[in-house]
Amino acid sequence: MNIHTYEKAWLAASLLLIVGFIVTITYGSVGLGIAMIDDSEDTIEPDELDEDERFAEPRVEQVGENEYEAYVVARTFFYNPDTVEVPANSEVTFYVTSGDVIHSYSVVGTNLNTMVIPGEVSTMTAEFDEPGEYGVICNEYCGGGHHDMEGQLHVVPEDEFDMTELSVEAPDEVELGDDATFEVTVENGQLDDLETTIDLEVGNETIEEAVTVAGQESETTTIDVDTADLGEGDHDWTVTVDDYDESGTLTVAEELEAGDDDE
Ligand code: CUA
Repeated sequence: MNIHTYEKAWLAASLLLIVGFIVTITYGSVGLGIAMIDDSEDTIEPDELDEDERFAEPRVEQVGENEYEAYVVARTFFYNPDTVEVPANSEVTFYVTSGDVIHSYSVVGTNLNTMVIPGEVSTMTAEFDEPGEYGVICNEYCGGGHHDMEGQLHVVPEDEFDMTELSVEAPDEVELGDDATFEVTVENGQLDDLETTIDLEVGNETIEEAVTVAGQESETTTIDVDTADLGEGDHDWTVTVDDYDESGTLTVAEELEAGDDDE
């Protein structure tokens, strides 16, 4: 049987197309790492995220030298945390869930994009080599504020990244001659120990205190300032730890007004 040359060419071309389709479909479903949110993980109660150990406090956590985990809760119409900050040169695994309806977590300009389904935890891992700032949007229609639902992903240079938190408790008013007690809490979110210095400036006094905070712990340092050295009046104070500071004003009075004593 003789097959016409044109017929042969058409047969060959359509065979090639079929093979091409199979290759592209296989690549698209396996090669690009696209996955469905599956139910292989336990479901999570959307109404009880406040009691869930992973999502009660959405945050970024360091889990290895250059490995981080970000826990994010999507709700109408915001993300918590609003801004996820991670260092460059890191591998970050995102765990995202919803407290109400279906949302998405889509990092603009990247292929990081997941549907966020109440009851399920969407997981995706990404490597960030370079610093950069990305917008995060919700691309599942979730209600009247859907178009306002946005977040941020900041990849900061490694040396600008830290997970330190500072909080200071200090009295507003102290009687002359008494000690003013500053309670300085330094929280260290990184795995390694943090060695740093607390700088307290109040009036003309400067007090330095070295602290070591173990990895993923917090340390409260109590600093007593003798108000006799400060003298009567209002004194501005600033507590500085690394790049963080907190400030306020301390009033030293000859005699506290009645009613303040039993504070
Ligand atoms: Cu959330 Cu659209």
